[in-house]
Amino acid sequence: MKWDPSKYTEFADYRGRPYEDLLGQLGDISPRVVVDLGCGPGNKTNLLAQRWPAAQVKGLDSSPEMIAKAQDTVRLQNLDFELVDARQWHPDDEVDLLFSNAMLQWLPEHRQLLKTWLHDLKTGAYIAIQVPGNFGSAAHTVMRQMADSSKWEERLSGVLRHDDAVSEPEFYQQLLLEAGFQANVWETTFHQVMIGQDPILDWVRGTALLPVRAALSDKDYLDFETDYSREVSTHYPSFAGPDGSELTNFPFRRIFMIGRKLS
Ligand SMILES: C[S@@+](CC[C@H](N)C(=O)[O-])C[C@H]1O[C@@H](n2cnc3c(N)ncnc32)[C@H](O)[C@@H]1O
Repeated sequence: MKWDPSKYTEFADYRGRPYEDLLGQLGDISPRVVVDLGCGPGNKTNLLAQRWPAAQVKGLDSSPEMIAKAQDTVRLQNLDFELVDARQWHPDDEVDLLFSNAMLQWLPEHRQLLKTWLHDLKTGAYIAIQVPGNFGSAAHTVMRQMADSSKWEERLSGVLRHDDAVSEPEFYQQLLLEAGFQANVWETTFHQVMIGQDPILDWVRGTALLPVRAALSDKDYLDFETDYSREVSTHYPSFAGPDGSELTNFPFRRIFMIGRKLS
């Protein structure tokens, strides 16, 4: 599956807001080593390096395209990027803050990984994570229903993530507490105002549709997009904005967790 950094950053404000909300809840801390796991194009990792200029900040991601974009555009002395697969990574004793925004939902084994990371982090270290909690929304269910239909199932069976891509907030709270962390877990539904035609399709093109894109030929993918756009728009009706422009409300639920290791 190939990421397209320019497509992903098209909705930079809405995709970036949870990152900022998570960072905003970290309070007055002074980490010396910070890791941004699944850092993507690095535009947001910048914020970590600016907030803690004395810290060494590392952005890690498994996508060569994302890391190339990050290395190309970000120039802060205390920030560097590396191609790393989170599934092969462990925090060492240097890490004071493990930050990860919108990455774990891509890893079916993330609950076990999280457990291992919580175990490996040193006493006093922080963890700050955000995952989308919207896999039951129409933007995803329509995609899955289509993939399971007789027209597509042969080519798309097992390709998409399901409701269990992430767990409920209580699960993560329990995981933190059991690992000896102080737990601050919450959820927010962002009511995103999308502008123009086909905004849901445009949004998922940057993320959720990528596995479909990778599994189909160009022609079949266009066909899938056309059917998806028609069906999904019935769940997210557009309306006229105050200046007559076409607007759509796209509610997006996200789950946040912050922990500090007490023992
Ligand atoms: C939705 S983007 C989030 C990017 C960034 N954290 C942000 O908030 O803008 C998900 C990122 O997770 C990365 N990713 C997915 N699986 C990964 C893995 N196994 N190891 C490291 N990064 C991974 C993708 O390459 C992508 O850059």
